[in-house]
Amino acid sequence: MKNDSTTREHWGGSLGFVLAAAGSAIGLGNIWKFPYITGMNGGGAFVLVYLFCIILIGLPIMICEITLGRKTQKNPLGAFLAIAPHGTSTTRSIGSVFLLIALGLLCFGKFGLGLIFGVLAAFAFYFGWGSIGLVGVLTPFVIMSYYGTVGGWTFAYFIKGITQQLNISSTVEAQNIFNSFALNPFVAVFYQLMFTLLCGFVVWFGIKNGIELASKFLLPLLLLLLILLIMRSLTLPGAAAGVRFLLSPDFGKLTSEGVLIALGHAFFSLSLGMGAMLTYGSYLDSSKNIYIASLNIVFLDTLIALMAGLAIFPAVFAMQMNPEAGPGLVFQIMPVTFNAIGDNVGWLWSSLFFLLLFIAALTSGISLLEVCISCLIDEFHFKRHSAVFGVTLLVSIMGVLSTISVFDWEKIPWLEKIFLFLFNSTDASFFDAADNFSCNYLLPLGGLGISLFVGWVWGTRYAIDEIRKGGEQFSDVNFFTLLAGLKDDPNATRDSHSLTLGVILGIFIRFLSPICIIITFLHSIGWLKF
Ligand code: PFF
Repeated sequence: MKNDSTTREHWGGSLGFVLAAAGSAIGLGNIWKFPYITGMNGGGAFVLVYLFCIILIGLPIMICEITLGRKTQKNPLGAFLAIAPHGTSTTRSIGSVFLLIALGLLCFGKFGLGLIFGVLAAFAFYFGWGSIGLVGVLTPFVIMSYYGTVGGWTFAYFIKGITQQLNISSTVEAQNIFNSFALNPFVAVFYQLMFTLLCGFVVWFGIKNGIELASKFLLPLLLLLLILLIMRSLTLPGAAAGVRFLLSPDFGKLTSEGVLIALGHAFFSLSLGMGAMLTYGSYLDSSKNIYIASLNIVFLDTLIALMAGLAIFPAVFAMQMNPEAGPGLVFQIMPVTFNAIGDNVGWLWSSLFFLLLFIAALTSGISLLEVCISCLIDEFHFKRHSAVFGVTLLVSIMGVLSTISVFDWEKIPWLEKIFLFLFNSTDASFFDAADNFSCNYLLPLGGLGISLFVGWVWGTRYAIDEIRKGGEQFSDVNFFTLLAGLKDDPNATRDSHSLTLGVILGIFIRFLSPICIIITFLHSIGWLKF
């Protein structure tokens, strides 16, 4: 297998990689989604389950993705093809099953799903295992179409904040402001385009001078803003109730549904299942320790999610707002909450809060674009600038459709007709459909594909070999020896067949992670009920 590690651009150092990857992971999922799903699923108990999911499933899959990227030094499609260039009887069988499902669905008039399975069958026949990577390269288009919409809202709210348009005292007023996007979608489109262009602007400058530099500046700023907001929130009278809500587990409120939501969110939040971490891993050189880097990324992502909870819930409780307000929590409750503090600078807190959200969205949007750009550069020999231009343009167009149709399909009747024909329903907006399709289908299935590929096709043996570079003392140390603090004891034996971290990782990748993903997936499509 050709490994062009010498010609590929690399991160300047471990810190740059960790910050860029954490920037991808830390996004709207942490600050917009995590607090509201925590609010809706009973607080502390949900947080605890989420932490388990992150450590037991998220971390091993993150290690897999980064390892696959670093080994092959390629984008997701190239990475799978580099390890398994030809289709096998297994991929052809999978393709045949997809084809049969597609035909069945078409016969029953389910054109949309039939088409999706038909395309997957064609991918499986043509690209073999590479189709997992190809789906990974296409997923960012789907995610970015609605991510850009929300990214645009955060930008718009930041501008509204600093121009003092968020001085509002009731949730009805807040709703009116939010709904004004529906009345005049062109404002929302403008901000969404600005957001997408800014992401494109950063990736234009490449890995070291673009993504790494931006992350080194934006992530510390994000942390600083969050600390400021937490200090404001925690010093409000009555804030303790919010802290209790977030941190004290009440298992009575936790449903099996909540457990599965936690698992699905772990994927989204860590940017797993579509090759973002794989792509970032492909810019990493062999001297870096993948275990330590992954642990740091997971730690930072989780820390920021918990900190976002600490910035939001104490203020929400102190101002007697509803913590279970759902997706509108940050846009419709937070401006009112900050204003209710009554220190005449509510607008400033709102502005800082939306700036925080905007930065988080930006560093994730950047990684979504980079996945597709790296594929165009590696596989189709595009120059970086032409790839950035093409991808940003395409993503912008999809984003405009999502932004316009988010409240009301009727604004784009031809798109509504296509959706109606394909899916027999337009109950969900283009925005909701893209969100649902990517989070409930594409990411879990992508994660499943990646862990099965590494565990069973490439082989954990080769994966661990790659991880050893830069991390030998971790892969081969006995797990219990490590726990006992005897890692560097010269008398400890290094027997690779004992319970080492590498062995544990292998077991997770081959069995535990895929099984958990299958359970989540079956639940999300309604085939499995608890
Ligand atoms: N991790 C991001 C968030 O929590 O908002 C979302 C995301 C970004 C998912 C990039 C996937 C991805 F490749």
